[in-house]
Amino acid sequence: MMNENRCGAFILLGLLLCGGRGEALSVPTLPPPTALPAPRTIGDSIFPSLGQAGLDVLNYDLSLTVVRPGTPQLQGEVTLTLTATQPLSQIRLDFVGPTVSAVRWNGRPVVFRTDSAAQKLLVALPKPLLPGTQATLTVSYAGTPGIVRDPDFTFPVDLGWQSVPAAGTGADVAGANFALSEPNGTHSFLPSNDHPSDKATFTTRITVPAGFTAAASGVQVSQTGTQNGPQTFVFSQAQPIPTYALGIHVNKFQRVDSPGVPVGVGGAPVQRRDYFPPGTFFQAKGAYARTDEMLRVLSGWFGPYPFGAYGVAIVTPQLPALETATLTTMPLTSSREPVALHELAHQWFGNDITPADWSDVWLNEGFATYAELLWAQSDGQDGQAMAARWWATLNQFGTRPLVARRAEQLFDTSAYRRGALALHALRVAVGDAQFRAFLQAYVARSSGGTVRTDDLVTLARALTGPIGEAALRLWIESPTLPPLPKLP
Ligand code: TRP
Ligand code: ZN
Repeated sequence: MMNENRCGAFILLGLLLCGGRGEALSVPTLPPPTALPAPRTIGDSIFPSLGQAGLDVLNYDLSLTVVRPGTPQLQGEVTLTLTATQPLSQIRLDFVGPTVSAVRWNGRPVVFRTDSAAQKLLVALPKPLLPGTQATLTVSYAGTPGIVRDPDFTFPVDLGWQSVPAAGTGADVAGANFALSEPNGTHSFLPSNDHPSDKATFTTRITVPAGFTAAASGVQVSQTGTQNGPQTFVFSQAQPIPTYALGIHVNKFQRVDSPGVPVGVGGAPVQRRDYFPPGTFFQAKGAYARTDEMLRVLSGWFGPYPFGAYGVAIVTPQLPALETATLTTMPLTSSREPVALHELAHQWFGNDITPADWSDVWLNEGFATYAELLWAQSDGQDGQAMAARWWATLNQFGTRPLVARRAEQLFDTSAYRRGALALHALRVAVGDAQFRAFLQAYVARSSGGTVRTDDLVTLARALTGPIGEAALRLWIESPTLPPLPKLP
């Protein structure tokens, strides 16, 4: 039965089904039911349609070609190395991207179908993928990326692949493209298990026309091409990150390198590079003048910087900044020191240790916001006054328990400020030495992995006892705003 659906098995059928043109494929249905249960999504409490349960993507090896920067058109091919935690008869990736032309399973063509309403790419497997085995899935596609409306209503733009048309003069003279995906925009240009519980490493190869520079999360491993022809830039993100944190940029960048900062794991140097669109360096550089110092201060609180590189890529549209891994996506208009610090802190909280469910995203925003206070204090400013301002906003505009229950809550004031005050409360309750040890243990034990709110509470109990646990819990759970904790 299964063989009927295998492209390799019937050449004619294979041509029809596998050689085809994505959407237009006349594949009536995926394979007949097997003994295996129908595939399920991951079951996120805020975004229940994302991801596939039991699928574990280990690596995405992505090749993208941008023929005309500033326009949305893309050509892509990605090979996912994956395994399963339960037997799978189908793969169901999140995808609303360009048209799929071919899908291969361990190198052989297989039957696939796209469901644009469900934003899925469905792939029939010749035989089930069993736990403990690895396979590769290669998807080839080209055309216009799909549209993912921001599901948390934080701001009215579409997430995922962005295009900035060439303007002829000024910073947009060249035209640009970049990814801006939190929470679920990555599947507009990359077939993926687009949920933070399935972190993966990335190899990203981007081909751009002569004169353009590509940048992506990770360290650059090569740049190849001919003198006046297209160039291919390859990046390796060797530590696992969530799909939403994959950063990709294309522009006529000025790349500014600085000496490495020895705050990586085991004192390894963290490579430093920042990318500026034409003519923006002098306008923007002020916000990034102290990045090395920030790396030192934050690694003093959180432990070693988790990745091999850090820097920003500046974009020109008015958008919020996003902490894309190793390479924050930083709008020119948000290029201010506290924002720069906040996004750097997300490299630990969000990118290295990642919420396993979107309802826990305060674990990102609360920690990154609290880092702003830690930095301000190290800079001689009044941290307690900052905490008091946060408290006053919450007191004025209202607040909620920290675990989000609806999409609109993910990036609201409570996620940021109440989340930060929960950490302030813990610090005030247990003192700086225990607080620092707690932060470092929290990062160390989950580095590369995922966390839930309960993990934080359990660790607080283990390391700081009932006093720390109670302080944290009050701020996580109370329906009303707890009193402002005060540093001695
Ligand atoms: N995580 C971002 C921050 O640093 C906020 C954010 C959420 C965002 N979704 C986004 C920014 C999408 C840009 C695009 O606080
Ligand atoms: Zn943030």
